[in-house]
Amino acid sequence: MIKSVIKGVGSYLPEKVLTNDDISEFVDTSDEWIYGRTGIKQRHIAADNQLTSDLAYNASIRAIKDANISPSEIDLIILATSTPDQVFPSTAVKLQDKLKIKFGAAFDIHAVCSGFIYALSTADNFIKSGKYSKVLVVGSETYSRIIDWNDRSTCVLFGDGAGAFILEAINSNSEDYNEGIFDSVIRSDGEYRTKLFCDGGPSMSRDQLHFISMDGKEVYKHAVEKQTAIVEDLLKTSKIDIEDIDWFVPHQANLRILDATAKKLRLDKNKIIITVDQHANTSSASIPVAMDHAIQIGKIKRGDILLLEAFGAGFTWGAVLLKY
Ligand code: UT7
Repeated sequence: MIKSVIKGVGSYLPEKVLTNDDISEFVDTSDEWIYGRTGIKQRHIAADNQLTSDLAYNASIRAIKDANISPSEIDLIILATSTPDQVFPSTAVKLQDKLKIKFGAAFDIHAVCSGFIYALSTADNFIKSGKYSKVLVVGSETYSRIIDWNDRSTCVLFGDGAGAFILEAINSNSEDYNEGIFDSVIRSDGEYRTKLFCDGGPSMSRDQLHFISMDGKEVYKHAVEKQTAIVEDLLKTSKIDIEDIDWFVPHQANLRILDATAKKLRLDKNKIIITVDQHANTSSASIPVAMDHAIQIGKIKRGDILLLEAFGAGFTWGAVLLKY
């Protein structure tokens, strides 16, 4: 039997910070409204010359360093993004080239805010198949490029960033075998695809600009409902009690969604990693960014049981249970 362990974690947020007060200088909003409704204080914005692959590279280098490996040992790259550099080739192969990796395979996964959970679950299953042994899993986004900066209902919610994990295969005879990913679950329901979307796909559009469009109340309702249900399912199938979880590392979209989900799950709020105030919703990057931050400040430690969960456009949602 083969399992995946998390050998390294890294993240990167662009230098430029845009505060709520900065935004209120060009749209009709306020720090009070944004913070009160979302828990967001600021977001990071990629420089004009920084692409999603650049953010991904910076986060990956940090994860590779943390894992104490060389890029040449990586045999698979899975990159989650809904803001790729180009229609093709994939952002993953650009990252592969930036890392000077000439071996293995690289591909993108598109599951919007659930992208990192989808990528992690896919990587875990590739590792369990025995075909790959060191996998770089990345979530990287430049949402500032698909935001309508005149639309106050969406422009306050998102930011740019990237995060990465290095997963490594271990065999059942390894002394680390009780660590790593226990189980994962991913779900989707395309019936809700019009509740949160961004046009601009080449099959539908020509070369006009397209921006995020969202039915905020519907997204909020389904996010709470579906994240609660999937966590309950995963805990049940894994035979783990909610009290056994040391830390919840949820997708960082909105503090009110996190609070409402915690309440429904009867979860101790002090066990939730919250970083949304610092970088807003960075879509597929938010979970590894939050996790890296919590490790850096000494909250998450080796041996802790973690539950990662996300919800996003599609709708898509999912969760991963692991021992760090
Ligand atoms: O990964 C999933 C990503 N999506 C999300 O996390 C979004 C989930 N949804 C939400 O968190 C909430 O629906 C929002 C925070 C987006 C909006 O909160 P809401 O309580 O649902 O507000 P609303 O859309 O019903 O708008 C209430 C009022 C409206 O004014 P009127 O019509 O009542 O006069 C909006 O025009 O708030 C107004 N409004 C704003 N006011 C100041 C909307 N955006 C803003 C703003 N600043 N930025």
